[in-house]
Amino acid sequence: MNHQEALKQAVDGLNLDLAWEYAAGIQYAQHAAMLSGAAYFAVAEELEEHSKEEFGHATELSVLIQYLGGIPTTQVAPVATSRDNEEMLRQDLQGEYDAIRRYLQRIRQLEALGMYDSAQIIRNIVVTEQEHAIDLEVALGIEKTVFPPTELTFE
Ligand SMILES: [Fe+2]
Ligand SMILES: [Fe+2]
Repeated sequence: MNHQEALKQAVDGLNLDLAWEYAAGIQYAQHAAMLSGAAYFAVAEELEEHSKEEFGHATELSVLIQYLGGIPTTQVAPVATSRDNEEMLRQDLQGEYDAIRRYLQRIRQLEALGMYDSAQIIRNIVVTEQEHAIDLEVALGIEKTVFPPTELTFE
């Protein structure tokens, strides 16, 4: 694959990311409004924040796509929803895991092209997605300890 083909592939990937950011922004806005019960009051506020941040990512991606010679998509990826509080949070968490996986691939593609500046923009976005995932894991009470503590040696 030559440079131009690889760049086209990265731009196509960024447009896919963009369509998923729009979907995430809509999904979080809807879930924030639909969560019910006192236990979910603070979580709903958190999801409203996530919604705004996803639309912010959409704007950043649009600028980047244009800069790289593409046309930002106006398509929206499928939005997941449910009438169950916990199911909505699980859908949101899955969306974050998927986004992180896509962005890590995008960083590899852009860095392979030597575009470290563009890759940096994606790094900044993926850090936010990781924060979103942590918020949701905590809200869902997900226990994910894999490594028990080992004895530390101090000399
Ligand atoms: Fe995002
Ligand atoms: Fe996110």
